[in-house]
Amino acid sequence: MKLLKKTGGLKRALAALTVALAALSLQPLSAQAAPQPVVGGTRAAQGEFPFMVRLSMGCGGALYTKNIVLTAAHCVSGSGTNTSITATAGVVDLRSSSAIKVKSTKVLQAPGYSGKGRDWALIKLAKAVDLPTLPIATSSAYNNGDFSIIGWGAAREGGGQQRYLLKAQVPFVDDATCQRAYGNDLVPGEEICAGFPQGGVDTCQGDSGGPMFRRDSTGAYLQVGIVSWGEGCARAGYPGVYTEVSTFAGDIARAAAGL
Ligand code: ARG
Repeated sequence: MKLLKKTGGLKRALAALTVALAALSLQPLSAQAAPQPVVGGTRAAQGEFPFMVRLSMGCGGALYTKNIVLTAAHCVSGSGTNTSITATAGVVDLRSSSAIKVKSTKVLQAPGYSGKGRDWALIKLAKAVDLPTLPIATSSAYNNGDFSIIGWGAAREGGGQQRYLLKAQVPFVDDATCQRAYGNDLVPGEEICAGFPQGGVDTCQGDSGGPMFRRDSTGAYLQVGIVSWGEGCARAGYPGVYTEVSTFAGDIARAAAGL
């Protein structure tokens, strides 16, 4: 009797789960049918985002200090001496002859990074770059509102990398809404989501590691996110997922001081 009851309960739970899964999978399928162009981007002006860096492995990054780039953990393969990365700075046009190119000396991947959450890394440059840096959020005060996203990544799902830096704006998406899209794949304390309910504007492949930022109360740019992942790009119901910079601000500062 007890066993039967249990089985019945299990069956009901399984049935509920099946319905829930079916409801979940309906959205990806319908959204998949019409992938939206990304970023809905427009070209950034030369000098508009002077802290923005392109990394040679095909990621973005931002100058945290004049010789340290903040990027995503999934853009690097580990920690230690690394002279194989080239950072291109100071240009929106990657083919510009005035591009500043600097090699890496070291990489620090977020300690404990295992592919879920904690998607941040630091790259030390061989020399200081004389460009403005992008300060990072040290509290959750600015984890709201509209954010700027920029990058040389794909301008549509499955598309190629860009020669010119693109920019767009996306609104904050709260954890509960984002969890409805991604379930347990989202680490709410470590990730912050952004995008329009209808999609159409987003970061995409090759934008990873780049900054998501907004203006603070003084009007200065402040980094609140690092491009991390998403289901496709710019799909309705699937916001972009970004590393929640404020969560790791202390770790990042300590790691940079020791790099
Ligand atoms: N992981 C991707 C990269 O390496 C970034 C994907 C961002 N996706 C999104 N839908 N916001 O560039």
